[in-house]
Amino acid sequence: MNLWKLSVGILAAVKSVWTRGSPFAALTALWPTNEDGKYIIQAEGIRLAFTNHGAALTNLWLNNTHGEEIDIVLGMDDARDYPQQSSNPYLNGVIGRYAGFLSGASYEVDGILYNVTPNAHNGTSLYNGGEKGWGRQTWDIAVHINNSITFVLFDNRWNGFPGIFASCVTHTVTPYEWRIAFGVTPLLKAGPINLSQQVFFNLDGFRPNSSETVLNHKLHLPVAGMRFDVDDRGIPTGDIRSSRERKDFDFWSTSKSIGEEIQKQRSSFDVTYALSHKPFGDKEDDPVAILSSHLSGITMELYTDQDALHVHTWDGGLKLKKDQGEGKVSQHGAISLEMQDWPDAVHHPEWRHRKTIWGMDGLFTRFATYKFLVNGQ
Ligand SMILES: *[C@@H]1O[C@H](CO)[C@@H](O)[C@H](O)[C@H]1NC(C)=O
Ligand SMILES: *[C@@H]1O[C@H](CO)[C@@H](O)[C@H](O)[C@H]1NC(C)=O
Ligand SMILES: *[C@@H]1O[C@H](CO)[C@@H](O)[C@H](O)[C@H]1NC(C)=O
Ligand SMILES: *[C@@H]1O[C@H](CO)[C@@H](O)[C@H](O)[C@H]1NC(C)=O
Ligand SMILES: *[C@@H]1O[C@H](CO)[C@@H](O)[C@H](O)[C@H]1NC(C)=O
Repeated sequence: MNLWKLSVGILAAVKSVWTRGSPFAALTALWPTNEDGKYIIQAEGIRLAFTNHGAALTNLWLNNTHGEEIDIVLGMDDARDYPQQSSNPYLNGVIGRYAGFLSGASYEVDGILYNVTPNAHNGTSLYNGGEKGWGRQTWDIAVHINNSITFVLFDNRWNGFPGIFASCVTHTVTPYEWRIAFGVTPLLKAGPINLSQQVFFNLDGFRPNSSETVLNHKLHLPVAGMRFDVDDRGIPTGDIRSSRERKDFDFWSTSKSIGEEIQKQRSSFDVTYALSHKPFGDKEDDPVAILSSHLSGITMELYTDQDALHVHTWDGGLKLKKDQGEGKVSQHGAISLEMQDWPDAVHHPEWRHRKTIWGMDGLFTRFATYKFLVNGQ
C-alpha cells in the first residue's frame, strides 16, 4: 500500500467512525474492495461478492456444466448504486430487526406495550424493520479473509425499537458451498427478532439470453408438506393447510418444474411453507429445498434450521448485470427460497410456545447453507 492510499484509507476510517459511531467503522474502511466497490470471497468452484449496504450479496459465480462461468443471482454492477435502490423486496440484503409486517406497529413484552415507528399501511404497520431497517443501513466489516466475511451492525434504538441489538452475519465459502450464520445479541431490552436474507437465483445465469426464466427449473421441498393460509391481502390468517400429494403446491412428494405449478395457478408463485424437520435429525444433514436446472447442469441444495420457507418468483424489472447479458429480468426470471420464522407469529399467541421475543438470556442464532453440485464435476 503506498503512502497516498494509506492516507486516503486513514481519512476514510476517521470519517466513518465519526459518522457511524461503530467501533468497527475504522476497520471497515481498510478492507480492500474490487473496482466495483465489492468485497470478494472465494473457494474452489465458487466466488461471491458483497456490498456493505444492507450486507447484500451482489454476485455468485459458478462454472456451469459446459465450463462457462456464470453469475446466478440478481444484483447490480456497481456497489455504489445500492443505496439508491429503494424498492422492495430488498435486493439480496439482510432484513431486520424485524422482517415482514408488524401490524399495529406495536408489540407487548411482560405486559408493557412498545410502539415502534410505522412505515406501512398508512402509518399503522411497521414493514421490514421500518424506514431505517437493517437492509437500508451501511454495515461494518469486522473480518474479511479470502473465504469469509463478517458484517456487524449496532442497532441503537432505531425505528422506535428499544434497546441496542448487536447483530453479526458471517458468510463463509468452502468448495462448492456457501454458509450464512446469523447472530443477534439483544442488550438492555428484550424484543422481537426476525432476520431474513432473500436471495433471488437463476441457475442458468440468464443464458442464453435475458428472456431466460426459472420456469424450467425443477424444485423439490422434501419436508414442506404444509403451507400457511393467507387472506385476500396476502396476510397470514394463522391457519395451516396441507399440500396433498399431487394437488396444489405439492413439491414434497416429488420434484417438479416451477412452470407446471405456475401454469396451474395462473399467477405468480408466492407461498410460505412450514418445514417439518426430522424430530431428532441434524438439520445440517437433510436439505429443505433442492433446485436444479438441466440447462446449466447446476443443482442447489438449501439447508437451514429455520421453520418456514417463503418461495417467491421475481415480478420482473431490474437491469441484468453486465456479465449476465443485455436487457431486463423478465417476470419469473428468478426465484428466492427465503428461510424464516412462522409468518406473523408475534400476533398468533394460539401457536403456543413459539418463541418470538429474545432477551439477553438467549442469543438469536440461525444458519443457512447452500450446496452446489455441477454435472460432470
Ligand atoms: C471456472 O473455471 C475457470 C477455469 O478452470 C477457473 O479459472 C475459474 O476460477 C472457475 N470459476 C469459479 C467460480 O470457480
Ligand atoms: C391508505 O389510505 C388511502 C387513502 O385514504 C386508502 O385508499 C388506502 O386504502 C389506505 N390503505 C390501507 C392499507 O389502509
Ligand atoms: C487464502 O488465504 C490463506 C492464508 O493466507 C492461503 O493459504 C490460501 O492459499 C488462500 N486461498 C486462496 C484461494 O487464495
Ligand atoms: C432467447 O433464447 C430463446 C431460447 O433459446 C429463444 O427462443 C429466443 O429467440 C432468444 N431471444 C433473443 C432476443 O435472442
Ligand atoms: C419474518 O420475515 C418474513 C420475511 O419478510 C415474513 O414473511 C414473516 O412473516 C416474518 N415472520 C414473523 C414471525 O413475523
